[in-house]
Amino acid sequence: MPRRLARKLMLSITAIVVIVAAVSGVVNVKTEESQLLNAMILGADQLSTGITSAIWHAMLDDHREAAYEVMRTIARKQGIDRIRMFNRAGQVMFSTNPQDRLSAANPTDAPCAMCHAPGAPRFKLDLPSRARTFRAADGRRLLTMMTAIYNEPSCSQAECHAHPASIKVLGVLDLSLTLDSLDRQMHRAQLRVLLVTGLEVTFIGVFIIFFTRRFLSRPIEKLIEGTKAVSQMDLDKPIGSIDASEELNELARSFDIMRERLRTAMSEINQFTQKLESKVEERTQQLKAAHQKLLQSDRLASLGQLSASVAHEINNPLSGVLNLSMLMQRMLKEDGIPPNRLEEFRKYLGQVTNETARVGRIVSDLLAFSRRSKPQRAAADLNKVVSMTLSVAQHKMKLSDVAVETDLREDLPPVHCDASQIQQVALNLLLNAAEATQSKSERRVKVSTSARDGRALLTVSDNGEGIPQENLAKIFDPFFTTKPEGKGVGLGLAVSYGIVEAHGGDLEVESRVGEGTTFTVSLPLEPAAR
Ligand SMILES: Nc1ncnc2c1ncn2[C@@H]1O[C@H](COP(=O)(O)OP(=O)(O)O)[C@@H](O)[C@H]1O
Ligand SMILES: [Mg+2]
Repeated sequence: MPRRLARKLMLSITAIVVIVAAVSGVVNVKTEESQLLNAMILGADQLSTGITSAIWHAMLDDHREAAYEVMRTIARKQGIDRIRMFNRAGQVMFSTNPQDRLSAANPTDAPCAMCHAPGAPRFKLDLPSRARTFRAADGRRLLTMMTAIYNEPSCSQAECHAHPASIKVLGVLDLSLTLDSLDRQMHRAQLRVLLVTGLEVTFIGVFIIFFTRRFLSRPIEKLIEGTKAVSQMDLDKPIGSIDASEELNELARSFDIMRERLRTAMSEINQFTQKLESKVEERTQQLKAAHQKLLQSDRLASLGQLSASVAHEINNPLSGVLNLSMLMQRMLKEDGIPPNRLEEFRKYLGQVTNETARVGRIVSDLLAFSRRSKPQRAAADLNKVVSMTLSVAQHKMKLSDVAVETDLREDLPPVHCDASQIQQVALNLLLNAAEATQSKSERRVKVSTSARDGRALLTVSDNGEGIPQENLAKIFDPFFTTKPEGKGVGLGLAVSYGIVEAHGGDLEVESRVGEGTTFTVSLPLEPAAR
């Protein structure tokens, strides 16, 4: 089946036209044929009657030759095949065709059977029943007309060859006409029908081609172009007027309206997306700032925790310095230091220097930790980060009587990280560990470093109270704490988790209630060191 609408329409309409034209042509030809045949039958009947009338007197006078001559003369006319005459017994009395002479007709033959069929013979047949068409042995079509010659008073009373009055039919005149001219006319009629059908199909085809191109194909192609443009999101191409039928124009108009609405909606969506993008950007900045603040507040919380121990730790050397300086003041006489006490004085001065240096170290460690630094990643030595953390926390550890064991792997490959942030993580874990051992008589915390599978591991374990199963899923939540108010804010692990994750690392916990807890931080090594 063709795909194009125009071709489909043309094929189907052509088929319909051909069928209609063929049927009407056949009906016309048949009607014409039967009309012509009727006319011929009428003519044959008149001719038969004319012949019988013409030979009547000759027969009555028993001048057979004269009667035969009349028939021969008539049979020469164009269109007459032959004229025969049968007697009552069915014998051919005369025929214009010499081969027929003296032959006898069979009463069961088609023309004879009309009257001589078994049953009641008929004497007066109607006109159509007496005529018969058939094809002769030589292929020609023929029309035969049988006309009975009835016995009349003039015949039965004639002196010469009287026929008894009881005989009704004396003989039969058989006139046969050729149907050549009728066949020729029929042939012409058939040609005419064919020609008319061909012309009809051609005209209708041309009309359909013009009509479908002008009012269907081109407008539809324009519509398809428009829809394709829309499907490729080209919304600036209107279809415009397609100059077709009212329905297609309406379709094009509503399509244009749809395209226009789509364009407006798209531009609104674009604007909305742009707004959304800038909002997201703005919020991201705010979130970053909030995160930074959170980091800082966690750092300050750790500092708060450390402050008491640091104060204590600073206080000790300070009071030592105070005592030593008072002692040295007392040793200092009007004329200077007595020579025998010079050694002692020097020793005290050395102690003052040492103690002051210690205070200075503590303060500088604290300052380094509390400093708000910009996050920046670089190759860092994890062992160094741990040592610095331990030095910040050692005062508190000492004060709380926590024994800190370290097992730092030597020649640990460098880690790609922000050292100050990792220090914050380590401090959080260390302080949590120390606090968890509070209830134990022997408080132990172990810090170790190692490397495995391209990662550096930092482990902080304690022999503390452990974490109950139901809390394990919550400890990384911000503000989750089991510590009394004023002691814990619940930010340490949340912030640590955020930092480690941002470094592409992992923070894992393993814990047994009553036995202790181990936190493991794994961080990617510096790419070159992997
Ligand atoms: N080493 C540990 N041993 C037992 N519990 C711990 C340990 N580390 C953390 N926790 C639990 O996790 C909670 C959350 O810790 P964290 O986020 O540091 O907040 P905070 O220390 O302020 O409570 C703690 O309150 C504690 O219950
Ligand atoms: Mg904590």
